[in-house]
Amino acid sequence: MEIDLNNLAVVVTGAASGIGRATALAFAANGARVFAVDVNEAGLAETAEMAGNGSVTTHKADLLDPTNCKPVIDAAVAKLGRLDALCNIAGVLKIEALEDVTPQTWDFIYGVNVRAPFFLSQAAMPHLLESNGAIVNISSATAFRGYAYVTAYTSSKAAIAHMTKSLQAEVIKSGVRINAIAPGTVNTPMGTEGGGGSFDKFDMELFARMMQVRPGSPPESYTDIILYLASPQNQIIRGAVLNVDDGMDAT
Ligand SMILES: NC(=O)c1ccc[n+]([C@@H]2O[C@H](COP(=O)([O-])OP(=O)(O)OC[C@H]3O[C@@H](n4cnc5c(N)ncnc54)[C@H](O)[C@@H]3O)[C@@H](O)[C@H]2O)c1
Repeated sequence: MEIDLNNLAVVVTGAASGIGRATALAFAANGARVFAVDVNEAGLAETAEMAGNGSVTTHKADLLDPTNCKPVIDAAVAKLGRLDALCNIAGVLKIEALEDVTPQTWDFIYGVNVRAPFFLSQAAMPHLLESNGAIVNISSATAFRGYAYVTAYTSSKAAIAHMTKSLQAEVIKSGVRINAIAPGTVNTPMGTEGGGGSFDKFDMELFARMMQVRPGSPPESYTDIILYLASPQNQIIRGAVLNVDDGMDAT
C-alpha cells in the first residue's frame, strides 16, 4: 500500500520525546512538513536534528495553558500555509494513591491530556475542513478497564476516546476524519518511568495488574498506523478508537 504524505502539513504535539518524536520523524522521513510542538525545547531541538532535512519546524508551547492552543495552530498555518493533520500526542501521567491526588494534579492531567487536544482541535478545524484533513488522538489501553492508582490518567484517556467520537459526529458530513489509537505499554520515558508517586502505599498485587503480559514496544511501532490515519488515504475509518496495544486490552 502506498501512503502519499508528500508535502502534507502536519502538527505533532509531544514531539520532544517518545511517540510524538517517533511520529514527527516518521512524517519527516516520508516527505511531510512537520510543525513539532512541546514544552521541552531541548527535546524538540534534538528531534529536529534527528530529522536532519529541515522538514521539522519546532515550536515551544506549554499546552497546559489553554490560551496557548489557538496561537500554536495559527503559528503552524502561518509557517506551513495550510493544515492537513493534527496529531495530539503530548500527555502526562501520575501514579498516586487516592488520598494523594490533589485538585492541582487532576487539573494538570486533564489540562494536558483532554483540554489541550480539544482546544487545539477547535482551532484546527476551520483549516482541516478546508483541506479535508485529519486528527489523530492518543488514548490508552488503560482507558477501557479499571486500574488502581491512576484514576485521573485512565479517565482522561477514556475522555479523549469519547471526545474523538463526539467531535467526529459534529463534522461527520465533512471530509474530516478524527480517530484515536489506544496503545499498550510503550518504551518511552512515560512508559518506563511512569510519573510514579507514593509506591510504598501501593498494594503491589493491584499495581501489578497495570503491567501488560507482553513486553512494552518501542514508540516506532505506532507510527505506521498514526501516519495512515493522518493521511488522505484513510477515508473509511472515522470516529474510531483503535486498540493498538499488543493484546493488553484482551488480557
Ligand atoms: N508510554 C506508554 O506506555 C503509553 C501508553 C498509552 C498511551 N500513551 C500516551 O502516548 C502519548 C505520548 O506519551 P509517551 O509515552 O511518548 O510519553 P513521553 O513522556 O515520552 O512524551 C510526552 C511528551 O509530551 C510533552 N508534554 C507534556 N506536558 C506538556 C505540556 N504541558 N505542553 C506541551 N508538551 C507537553 C512532554 O514534554 C513529552 O515530550 C501520551 O498521550 C500518553 O498518554 C503512552
